[in-house]
Amino acid sequence: PGAHALAYLQSKLRDVPDFPKPGILFKDITPLLADPRALHITIDLLAERFIGERIDIVVGIESRGFIFGGAVATRLNAGFVPVRKLGKLPWKTDRLTYALEYGEAELEMHMDSIPKGARVLVVDDVLATGGTASAAAELARRQGGTVEAFAFVVELDFLAGRSRLDSENTRPAVYSL
Ligand code: PRP
Ligand code: MG
Repeated sequence: PGAHALAYLQSKLRDVPDFPKPGILFKDITPLLADPRALHITIDLLAERFIGERIDIVVGIESRGFIFGGAVATRLNAGFVPVRKLGKLPWKTDRLTYALEYGEAELEMHMDSIPKGARVLVVDDVLATGGTASAAAELARRQGGTVEAFAFVVELDFLAGRSRLDSENTRPAVYSL
């Protein structure tokens, strides 16, 4: 992507200090979402490198990963499978406890939501420590998917989430804008 486009997207990200807890610098994506051009460019850039890669399922992570994951899935002619926070999914679920940058949480995925051998792309807005994405990938694998790649809008390099995802056995590719 051009430096100009990336600078434009960057200008639509808002840093909010001390949210949701003191000491956390929160990456607020809502200005980017609200801007038609920034939203369009973001979805284009997230999806384009996977065109022709035969992605069967996009796994999107609640809640901000739903916005980008759903849009990317339609671009790739893939299905969409949600990973949700505890207690939100109505059917039988598999669940995993994971560590957050600020605390601990549980994620769930519906049983049998992913066809056996499906090629999976995991999408979320922000890669921080990698705990969330790593848990989502593990859930996808447990349901029979093969995680081919991760795609994020924002990557917080200083938290080294990338190396955490790289250490997975299947060595999926990790992309951020
Ligand atoms: C944020 C962000 C990612 C995750 C990244 O989600 O949207 O999903 O944290 O952190 P990690 O790489 O350290 O795991 P959050 O749990 O705040 O929930 P939200 O998307 O519902 O706002
Ligand atoms: Mg999130």
